[in-house]
Amino acid sequence: MSYLSASNMTGGYGRGADILHDCTIEAAEGEIAVIVGPNGAGKSTAMKAVFGMLNLRQGSVTLDGEDITHLTPQDRVAKGMAFVPQTSNVFPSMSVEENLEMGAFLRRDNITGTMEQIYDLFPILKEKRRQNAGELSGGQRQQVAVGRALMTQPKLLMLDEPTAGVSPIVMDELFDRIIEVARTGISILMVEQNARQALNIADKGYVLVQGRNRFTDTGEALMNDPEVRKSFLGG
Ligand SMILES: Nc1ncnc2c1ncn2[C@@H]1O[C@H](COP(=O)(O)OP(=O)(O)O)[C@@H](O)[C@H]1O
Ligand SMILES: [Mg+2]
Repeated sequence: MSYLSASNMTGGYGRGADILHDCTIEAAEGEIAVIVGPNGAGKSTAMKAVFGMLNLRQGSVTLDGEDITHLTPQDRVAKGMAFVPQTSNVFPSMSVEENLEMGAFLRRDNITGTMEQIYDLFPILKEKRRQNAGELSGGQRQQVAVGRALMTQPKLLMLDEPTAGVSPIVMDELFDRIIEVARTGISILMVEQNARQALNIADKGYVLVQGRNRFTDTGEALMNDPEVRKSFLGG
């Protein structure tokens, strides 16, 4: 039984043409699910659909067995979803700590314990907590974005290209932290351009092409599939 089950999603932006066609994405508890595919395939659109930012013409989204298809993004956050979008995912003129506090805007309880957990996960953020997020390196800003999402204590963490523009070393480091988060029981749904490396840590992978599921399997099986390798992993 999947914690997240986004089934047969069909829809697009406003009154425009459908971008997603019968697209299905699932993630079990504590599992890392990765979406890969060419530019413009609809990966970000699928993430937005799961988060309630798209009007679906068909399909449904359930979280922990509950149908949330018609909930707003804010209500989905209250249900345990957190979404780190591909761009503009930090407040650059606010400090690291203020960014983390912003992440907790829906919470009414004490947030200091969660903040300590995030500083344990990303020690550099503790060091830089008084600096503006805009002054940090790309990799550190992504840590702020992930940390801010974790401040809501999500059960499902959604990341759209968290390693975009960072060096291979920083990418490996971030993937290690994401594995650590998944081991605490949080489900991860992640879009990645670094397809090979991402599938390497994925329990489950989806190859999307033109808004449709093209291949779905374990990360390992996809990496070993000759057709997937040739067409989507550069051989
Ligand atoms: N806000 C938007 N309004 C209209 N069309 C969009 C919008 N965002 C993306 N699209 C279109 O949706 C398709 C899929 O885009 P996207 O989901 O961003 O792809 P990917 O993330 O896989 O690169 C593209 O044809 C793109 O032009
Ligand atoms: Mg995208």
